[in-house]
Amino acid sequence: MAMQRITGFANAKPWETLTLLLLLVLVVAAGCVRAADDEQMRHGGGDGGRKMMRRRAADMTVPITILNSAVDRGAVCIDGTPPAYHLDTGSGAGNRSWVINLEGGGWCNDAMACRYRNGSRLGSSDHMERRVFFTGIMSAAPADNPDFYSWNRVKIRYCDGASFAGDTYNEALGLHFRGQRIWEAIIEHLLDAGMASAEQVLLTGCSAGGLAAILHCDQLRALLPDAATTVKCLSDGGLFLDAVDVAGARSLRSYYDGVVALHGVAPNLPKTCTDHLDATSCFFPQNIIDSIKTPIFLLNAAYDAWQIEESLAPNAADPSGAWQACKSNHLACNASQLQFLQGFRDQMVAAVRDFSESSRNGLFINSCFVHCQSETTATWNNAAGVSPALQNKGIAKSVGDWYFGRAEVKAIDCPYPCDNTCHNDI
Ligand SMILES: *[C@@H]1O[C@H](CO)[C@@H](O)[C@H](O)[C@H]1NC(C)=O
Ligand SMILES: *[C@@H]1O[C@H](CO)[C@@H](O)[C@H](O)[C@H]1NC(C)=O
Ligand SMILES: *[C@@H]1O[C@H](CO)[C@@H](O)[C@H](O)[C@H]1NC(C)=O
Repeated sequence: MAMQRITGFANAKPWETLTLLLLLVLVVAAGCVRAADDEQMRHGGGDGGRKMMRRRAADMTVPITILNSAVDRGAVCIDGTPPAYHLDTGSGAGNRSWVINLEGGGWCNDAMACRYRNGSRLGSSDHMERRVFFTGIMSAAPADNPDFYSWNRVKIRYCDGASFAGDTYNEALGLHFRGQRIWEAIIEHLLDAGMASAEQVLLTGCSAGGLAAILHCDQLRALLPDAATTVKCLSDGGLFLDAVDVAGARSLRSYYDGVVALHGVAPNLPKTCTDHLDATSCFFPQNIIDSIKTPIFLLNAAYDAWQIEESLAPNAADPSGAWQACKSNHLACNASQLQFLQGFRDQMVAAVRDFSESSRNGLFINSCFVHCQSETTATWNNAAGVSPALQNKGIAKSVGDWYFGRAEVKAIDCPYPCDNTCHNDI
């Protein structure tokens, strides 16, 4: 099961390991900064500017809230612990607007993979970081996040393993698959905490969270009591395609078969899809985006690094290792491999064709080798102007223009190699 590699730290993807290490370093650094600040305050020393900067770095982390009251309604992580979220309260003009971010982190498709999650942050709030960094679209800094910095920003932690869409208890395994209940419990809690009177809401997420943002977009619209509230959804790196791999099989479809069946996902998928397609098909965005009524923005790399590694050329489909070099560095791909990857881009462009015809939707499909671009400063909105761009417009500006109706954004890049603004993962 090649895809289980993404479920464990021991076998984490290079960028997951890097991100994790970076986060650890940053969290430790923030801890030191906070200690240093406290030290400075106690001794009344230090220069004001430096102190301000340190204070700002420390304040970029947001504490966890464990929602104990959700347990009564069976909304629990895989191991039965309560679900959790992080909220950075809005201010000023953003006071009645909300960004809701669904955390990503792969899925679990069988007993072994889900048991592994049971003892990790992706399956238990006992194992989650107590503070997380809010960067990119979650940032509170106006320069980094000009359109959403003052909004209430919430990160909902991912601990169910099926993009917040399962709803069952597995007696034999003793594991809870209650993603759908976690989604509902936390959204209802946030409604009580002020979101019910929101003027604007943006549901977002990357990877498995980007898929979740698509799956729950119309559900969020329905949960908001005031029809005057603007609700829109941004899926980052969530356009997982039902594609044929390098061995001629459909690796990701087989994997999703396991996720959908084990977690009891079917009843929570859009009926407009399940009334004519099997449940696994309806877990693929390409089969549901055309019938979602709430406006959606699809932000995705045409050569999605995760999909190349885990869906197109997973180890099981590449026993000879012929794709190893190419899938870890796009510059090492030979002509026939590049041709295969161009075929994948063609499928992605075809998958969004009807979706793109609706004036309410937005698109940013850049020809890069990356997975997730909205949650890091470098790709979302680097102040130095070296972030990915299409038609000279960066990602933060593109998403903002679409959200606020300042301009239509339907940007699809020309095929590789034609984009020198990429931040490639591979
Ligand atoms: C899951 O984790 C809980 C809490 O740590 C533990 O009690 C339980 O035995 C674990 N279940 C499995 C199947 O590993
Ligand atoms: C918005 O600000 C007002 C006062 O300025 C406050 O009463 C209210 O609770 C705030 N709303 C939210 C959702 O934070
Ligand atoms: C390119 O890589 C493929 C494996 O994907 C291999 O079969 C083929 O021989 C290579 N072509 C060249 C020209 O090296």
